[in-house]
Parts: sequence; C-alpha cells; structure tokens
Amino acid sequence: MKTVAVILAAGQGTRMKSRLPKVLHEIAGKPLIWHSMRAVRQCTTETPVVIVGHGAPDVIASIGDTARHVVQEPQLGTAHAVLQARAVLKPNSDVVLVVYADMPNDHAETLRGLVEAQERGGAVMTLLTVRSGEPRGFGRIVRSDNGRVLRVVEEGDASPEERNIGELNVGAYAFAAGWLWDALDRVPRNARKGEFYLTDAVELAVREGSSVEAVELPDAQEAIGINTRVHLAEVEEVLRRRINRQHMLDGVTFIDPGTTYVHAEVVIGRDTILMPNTHLIGATTVGERSRIGPNTVIIDSKIGSACTIQSSFLEGAILEDDVHIGPFARLRHGAHLMTGVHMGNFGEVKDSTLGPGVKVGHFSYIGDAKIGANTNVGAGTITCNFDGEKKNETEIGEDVFIGSDTMLVAPIRIGDRARTGAGSVVTKDVPPDTLVVGMPARAVRKLTKKPRQG
Ligand code: UD1
Ligand code: CA
Repeated sequence: MKTVAVILAAGQGTRMKSRLPKVLHEIAGKPLIWHSMRAVRQCTTETPVVIVGHGAPDVIASIGDTARHVVQEPQLGTAHAVLQARAVLKPNSDVVLVVYADMPNDHAETLRGLVEAQERGGAVMTLLTVRSGEPRGFGRIVRSDNGRVLRVVEEGDASPEERNIGELNVGAYAFAAGWLWDALDRVPRNARKGEFYLTDAVELAVREGSSVEAVELPDAQEAIGINTRVHLAEVEEVLRRRINRQHMLDGVTFIDPGTTYVHAEVVIGRDTILMPNTHLIGATTVGERSRIGPNTVIIDSKIGSACTIQSSFLEGAILEDDVHIGPFARLRHGAHLMTGVHMGNFGEVKDSTLGPGVKVGHFSYIGDAKIGANTNVGAGTITCNFDGEKKNETEIGEDVFIGSDTMLVAPIRIGDRARTGAGSVVTKDVPPDTLVVGMPARAVRKLTKKPRQG
C-alpha cells in the first residue's frame, strides 16, 4: 500500500507573536517541521508533502530536499490546505496521513497505529483523539449514544454541552485516498470563520453513510499542540524528558535529568555520565565511559570515550579518547585534541591540533597551531596568531617544553625537543633541541639532553 503524509504548515501562528513562521520555532534544537517530518517518515512509504504558506521561502529552505512542498495561498483552512496536495498525490496514494506541524509530539508509533487502523478497517477515515481535562481550544469529539464518532466541533462553534466533552481532536488523521480527494470538494465553508475545516470531513462522511474510526491516544502529553510560547516551553520539557529517558534506557547515566539538555540528534555511548546542567547541542556525539559536566555546553562536537569535561564550553571541536579538559576550558571550531590530551583551566583552543599526550595546563591561547605529541605548554602561553591583518600559523614539534608565559609570534616553528624559557617572546623559528630565552628570545646554547617532561 502506498502511504503518504501531508504535513500542514502554512498557518501564520499569530499567537506566537513572532516574525518567524511558527513551524520554524525549535524544540530540542530542531524546528517543529523537522520533528513532524521525522515522525511521518517512519510510518509512510512515500516522500511527504508539506503545505507551506506563511513564511514559505524560509520553511521551504528548512525542509530542503527531505520533502516535497506545495504552496497554499491564500490560507483558507485545514481542508483547503490538504486540497493543495491533491494534484501531486491523487494518482499516487492509497492511504493519506495528515498531520499538523504544530503538533510535534506525535510519536511515530502513534502515527503508525493510526495508519494501521485505517488500513485494517473499512472506514473512510481514522482520527486520533485524546481524553484530557485541559481542552486547550481543541475540537471536541461528538459521539452517538452507541459510541460512534459523529462529528468534530471546534471550540468556537461548540454549545456549552459540547464544550464539556472530554474527548479532543488531536489533529492527525489517516484517510482512504480515493474518498479523501473526492470529499474535499464537498467540505462546506465554516460560517463563523469563513474557513474550510478538515474536521468537517468527519460529519460529511457520517452523513454519507461511511464509517469513521477513532484511535485514542493513551498519553495526553503527546497531544500538546503549540499555539503560544507557553506551549512551546511545555513541549520542550516533555520532549526533553522523553529524549533523556531513552538515553538512560540505552545505558547513559543522568545525575539530574531535569537539568540535562540533550538535543534530538545527539548520540551518547554507554556508561557515559552526564552531570547537572550539561547541554549537548546540535550534531554532537559522545563515546562511552566519558564524564561530562557539571555546567558544560557542547555544541556540534565529537567527543571520544573515557574523556572528562568539566565546566567547559565546546563548539565544533573533536576530542579523541582519554582527553581531560577543564574546569573552564573553551574549545572553538577546528580544535582537535588527540588521544590523552590534558587541558586545564582557562585555556582556549581554535583551529588547532594538539597531538597525543599534549598538556596545556593553565591559562593559554592556542590558535592556528599544530602541536606535536607529548609537548608541554606552560601556563600563560600564547600563540600570537593575528598580526592585525591575517592569521598566521604556529607549528610546535614533539616533546617540546614551552616555558610559562611564552609568546609565540606566528608564523613560527618550534623544533622537536626544543625549550623556551619563562616569559620568552619567540619571534624566530627555533631549531630542534635548542633552548631559547628572553625578549626577543635569543639562542643561548645547544641542548644535549632530552628535556624533562612536566
Ligand atoms: C486544529 C483543529 C482542531 C484540533 C487542533 C489540534 C481544524 C479546523 N481544527 O485547530 O480540531 O483540536 O488543530 O491541534 O482543523 N494550516 C494550514 N493552512 C490553513 C490553516 C492551517 O496549513 O489554511 C495549518 C497550520 O499551520 C497548523 C495546522 O494547519 O499547523 C492547524 O491549524 P491551526 O490554525 O493551528 O488549528 P487549530 O486552531 O489548532
Ligand atoms: Ca494548532
């Protein structure tokens, strides 16, 4: 069976009070539309179609090539929105799953259940409902005395009795395609709002003698729709709990899940421990047995196994295994710390590779540099990479000992096993096995012994 999803994302989202289209607001680091697309892709066979309208260029850019889109202009309601997909989908669908992009908490499993119920039964449509004491402006499900679904009434059109109905319309439907594409032409215009409501397809079907099925959602939290920023924060919290729970079930320890923020696409290995106030953001991956936090932000970075990262801020960094950083380290884009690197407090690294076993204990800036294996960078060392016009490179060899407060004026090369004295200002390349001191540093003697590691 060909199952295709239509995602409605054309509405303005007036109640968000935002310049941004509602579906581009983010939860767990990804736009609402991304969450809808991820859910529907897991339970349909064809590429989804997104109905765009308000802020269309930005929404289309965000979708990329993961879905097709159709523009709805003007936006005349949810039935009218679905109608826009007819030309694209009519020849090519058996079951049509319709979801609203402002309902990002729809579980893929829930939607799969909805599609399966539609495929099983002889109904023309199956809709998702939920029982909740908080109606939040949702449509109410009106049933007959024997429990058949009769119609959905919008809150604004509901009688006081209907408003008391505790069963709500979640806003996800599976339709028999043949019936849907025909019936959409017969959905009447709502007199109060002047819009064509998809929810009115229910009454239409029942009147025509077709049956409508309903699947009830067990967890009301899944049915939080986003109309305001208050709802946005509520859904963020629900999703955060779900993401954290899944990682815990997969073998990650969260000391305090309530204050640990893990974005939707983050990957974390087993036996890693996340301490309070840790943020794993964007396309971040963490290996096994690492300890992260407290008070750490890691953005778009790749962290190996058995690392420790305390109270630090990382963006666009790569840490191999057994790397220990912080407290108070700052790694920026292009920081690559190879196996066994140790970096202590108040260090900053950007666009630099620190070879295996390198130590940068305290107060350093390393930019546009390459540091060889087992080199020790003393407290307060700075690669002076910017000459006012351009960035210049520093190359430090293996087993080098850079004395405290050394200024390395780039471009510059320090040979293997060289040493610099405390406070040196190095302006010329230093050959291997050479000690330099002073300002500017001058060569004083050729070294014979291998320098002590510290
Ligand atoms: C809708 C349902 C309501 C349900 C609720 C659940 C209708 C008439 N009502 O109400 O029964 O309980 O969702 O969340 O369907 N959209 C378009 N084009 C349009 C209008 C809307 O693409 O012309 C999109 C919006 O971007 C949004 C979705 O459809 O993603 C739902 O529209 P919205 O205005 O939020 O409907 P609700 O009032 O929430
Ligand atoms: Ca809504």
